[in-house]
Amino acid sequence: MKQVRPSIHNIELSIRAISETAEQMDDVVRLDIGQPDFDTPQTVKERMATIVQEDTPTYTSLWGIPELRNAIASFEGHKAPFSGEHVMVSTGGIGALFCILDTLLDHGDTAVTNDPCWSPYRMIIGATPGQHRQVSYIDDTGQVQESAIRNVIDDTTKLLILNTPENPTGRVYTKEQVQHIGEIAEDEDLYIIADEVYDQLLYDAEHCSPANLFPDRTIVVNSLSKNFAMTGWRIGWAAATNEELIHDIGKVNRATTACPNYLSQQAALIALQEAQDYTAEMRRAYHERRDLVMNHIHELGWDCISPDGAIYVFPDVGQDSWDFANNLLETEGVAVVPGEPAGPSSDTHIRICFGSASQEQLTEGFNRIERFVS
Ligand SMILES: Cc1ncc(COP(=O)(O)O)c(C=O)c1O
Repeated sequence: MKQVRPSIHNIELSIRAISETAEQMDDVVRLDIGQPDFDTPQTVKERMATIVQEDTPTYTSLWGIPELRNAIASFEGHKAPFSGEHVMVSTGGIGALFCILDTLLDHGDTAVTNDPCWSPYRMIIGATPGQHRQVSYIDDTGQVQESAIRNVIDDTTKLLILNTPENPTGRVYTKEQVQHIGEIAEDEDLYIIADEVYDQLLYDAEHCSPANLFPDRTIVVNSLSKNFAMTGWRIGWAAATNEELIHDIGKVNRATTACPNYLSQQAALIALQEAQDYTAEMRRAYHERRDLVMNHIHELGWDCISPDGAIYVFPDVGQDSWDFANNLLETEGVAVVPGEPAGPSSDTHIRICFGSASQEQLTEGFNRIERFVS
């Protein structure tokens, strides 16, 4: 039998390894997957019950339902002058990322991400003809590592991904940092993919999108998954002022899904129009959990940046991240994600999700972690 494409065969699904083991066990405190413990907004559920009865779900335009594209354009309108034609609705943020990367990356092209990064970037880039390069964008003092970034960029480099707020660190890039990284991208003529799927989940910080500063070369990726706790509806989008680019990215959307799910698009429209108070409620709850978690991290003496956004902390636990995560799960029944897949700088880090567990569950999880460490 002929072999499958090596770049697909070699894709690692390692981030899920701990979760799969945890699912087989009893009494596990789940701090691993970034699954919000909030339900779909009630207004969406109620309105969808009627829509399911009354509508006939059909194929939609491959860029999405026009009303939804317009609603997304106004939701994102504080970043750049978007209109509906600048938006492509996708199957989750991950669908947008794949469509963009597959549109831009040809054989031999490279894409740069931060080290550490959300590890599925490696997987998504691996599913395109392109290749992944990683470099730490920021040093410990918050300075942009310009020469290191420029060192990984060459003639093959087509784009960089800037994820703010960032998974796994919770870092929210300051305006100065976004400006500096964007200037490098401009100078090197790179696209900037601005992954902003946590942009409504901010604690002590203001969000600055590269689209604010570099609208011509930025493609915003966003979704309902975290900002509206609607992971299972699988709706995301790409937005760029470059209409021709959105048109081309839509061709990959067509090739992979024909169009996003009709009913989920209706749900997305309701969420954007009616559920923004719900996002505020989640933000308040996550803020309290962030403070609780950081108190425990300080007591443990772990080195960790305090997240200003998103739903994760990424402490350095001072030992191999896989050993730590496996032993913690086995002996105390706490599931966390090992840092190693996030990049070379993260071998001794773990990711703890505070968006998936109540304060009580987090306290129980940290009691067990403290017992494990001592
Ligand atoms: C940084 C980042 N980008 C994109 C996504 C994709 O989310 P979804 O496809 O559920 O919209 C996630 C999900 O965890 C994420 O953490």
